[in-house]
Amino acid sequence: MSGRAGERLAQLRAELDRLSHEYYVLDAPTRSDEEYDRLFRELLEIEAEHPEWVTPDSPSQRVGAAPAAGFAAVRHAEPMLSLGNAFSDEEVLAFDRRIREQLGGGEKPVRYSVEPKYDGLAISLRYEAGRFVQGATRGDGQTGEDVTSNLRTVRAIPLRLRTDEPPELLEVRGEVLLYKSDFERMNAEQSARGEKIFVNPRNAAAGSLRQLDPAATARRPLRFLAYGIGASRGFDVPPTQSGLLDALAAFGMPVGERETRVGATELLAYFAELGARRVSLPYEIDGVVYKVDERRDQQRLGFVARAPRFALAHKFPAQEAETELLDIEIQVGRTGALTPVARLAPVFVGGTTVSNATLHNEDEIRRKGLLIGDRVVVRRAGDVIPEVVRSLPEHRPAEGEPGHERLREFRMPQHCPVCGSQAAREPGEAAWRCQGGLVCAAQRKQALLHFGQRRAMDIDGLGEKIVEQLIARDLVHSPADLYRLDADTLAGLERMGEKSAARLVAAIAASRTCSLARFLFGLGIRHVGEEIARILAAAFGSVEAIMAADWAALQEEKTRLQKENTRRRAKGELLEPDPFEGIGPEIISALQNFFGEARNREVIAELLAAGVAIEPAAPAPAPTIVADGDARATLAGRTFVLTGTLPGMSREEAAGLIRAAGGTVSGSVSARTSYVVAGEAAGSKLARAQALDIPVIDEAGLLALLAGGET
Ligand code: IVH
Repeated sequence: MSGRAGERLAQLRAELDRLSHEYYVLDAPTRSDEEYDRLFRELLEIEAEHPEWVTPDSPSQRVGAAPAAGFAAVRHAEPMLSLGNAFSDEEVLAFDRRIREQLGGGEKPVRYSVEPKYDGLAISLRYEAGRFVQGATRGDGQTGEDVTSNLRTVRAIPLRLRTDEPPELLEVRGEVLLYKSDFERMNAEQSARGEKIFVNPRNAAAGSLRQLDPAATARRPLRFLAYGIGASRGFDVPPTQSGLLDALAAFGMPVGERETRVGATELLAYFAELGARRVSLPYEIDGVVYKVDERRDQQRLGFVARAPRFALAHKFPAQEAETELLDIEIQVGRTGALTPVARLAPVFVGGTTVSNATLHNEDEIRRKGLLIGDRVVVRRAGDVIPEVVRSLPEHRPAEGEPGHERLREFRMPQHCPVCGSQAAREPGEAAWRCQGGLVCAAQRKQALLHFGQRRAMDIDGLGEKIVEQLIARDLVHSPADLYRLDADTLAGLERMGEKSAARLVAAIAASRTCSLARFLFGLGIRHVGEEIARILAAAFGSVEAIMAADWAALQEEKTRLQKENTRRRAKGELLEPDPFEGIGPEIISALQNFFGEARNREVIAELLAAGVAIEPAAPAPAPTIVADGDARATLAGRTFVLTGTLPGMSREEAAGLIRAAGGTVSGSVSARTSYVVAGEAAGSKLARAQALDIPVIDEAGLLALLAGGET
């Protein structure tokens, strides 16, 4: 995968994976289905253009996510598929057209089974010889969770099929859900007992089904509605979907309302009818499902990767309501991102009362033209965080009219509302961030864990539970406070015996001596990972030099160097080496922001005062360009990638030698790589080097370079 499309694809996969995880495993989605569908379609488009990029781990190759811990895994005898979505009439017409074409029937209208799209949880019920033996959630479509004991408590699910001649095997597929009236009653009871209130019936059904104690599930009024089957043996499968639903109903399965319609126009009419009846239905639906009625035709149409070609989910648009934007407040995230949040006059939309909505970032507010005091449209789709769609400027009171005085433009604060540090927006980023990483209470936990981690200050035993307690008991505000802790104080924490307290104090003390690179990495400066920290340590040599650096001047110097080297490259001349290779404008700006915040500097001073002794970095040239021929910097300006097994040293040793000689080690091959050092069993990096025409050397070649020769 390469180029912009390749990058976008990787981004989409990561994002979709995250959303699936939130949705299917955590039961806590943060985005609307529409947002997911939009990203998913974009992914499908890119993959359609580049089929060679489709990998088995792409979200297009699966239907959900892995089951959560707590329930046994069940492999479905037949996979539980998903449905293709449509959001417009045109898409429905295109679906019907495709079907007619593929069935070769020309203009002849197709008969469809039309059903509500229930907004619950997909379930597979296994009946052997007519007895309910196992029930499972969909999971990733192949493997779900065994929730048999919980499903047995659902009275809508027959424990025996009502027939004298039961099939040997029948998997019934359908949806577990809560009726709206039951949901409201249940919430009222929960509230009376001071227990958690659910935001909507779907969430409540999910929470109820996944109770580890079946008795708890039994107290929840869950329902089930069947809409199809999976594997079967000894069952004379009816020739149509409508016939199948009738047969299931005859077996005593609850089946929702169903009809057949002929031709696309009738499908759209059904969509409109059901949409109008939606509010009066006993259960929540989020659209309708069209299925080719004839099973033979279904089989002829077949499947695409994740969904049958013979069926389509036509989704209702998200529900919207109007309300007033009372204020915009700022939330500070764990990593310092400042997120504007709309405070709204409470409004009932999409089945729940909404009084907050994220506004994502400054640009979104501007793009939507929102003023505080505006009337706004709020949207809530299914199960997710509500959003402010747009303002209604036509409702703005004119000057002199009541309410006009409340209208005001939102301005992003220049300081963090939690700790008062500078806030800054980095080039190319939408979010503003608090720059007080070392002092901000919102970021404290993250900062301490980062500081103490193995690759930073390596404080063994400083885990999440301990850090949480240190913060809760006001014992630690910044990393410097760690060095003031004593064993008696620590022994007072939960899960801390005297021995482990003493061990932690010793680990903190031992961390006092550390390398500059680890120290810099431990500060948690944005964009400063381990490799960048190493480059900075090598280039500056001491914390004092870094704190005294003139970042603006460095940026200028980098720009000059870049121009100079472009000129030299064009002329085929030797390039001027750059000791700050790999440190781009983003990083320089992050350093400037971090060290520009006086309180971060105070914490660093406190750390040094607390006895943190930073070992001087080996090559410590001043932050100027290293002169050519400098013995310590024979590899300055050159970037190496190591791959495969070297005969005489480990890759870490080789990397150490390269860095000590002023070179940079990178993990991936790019056009800027100077050399690839390849050992035995070198893999894709070698291939990439060859493709990019980058010199490949072996260990001997590297040693020759280190000795000052050229290869
Ligand atoms: S048929 C092979 N029919 O929608 C197709 N699914 O995106 C299998 N759903 O989680 C699904 N109502 O649980 C079908 N009348 C209906 C449905 C329905 C709701 C859910 C289903 C699945 C999702 C598919």
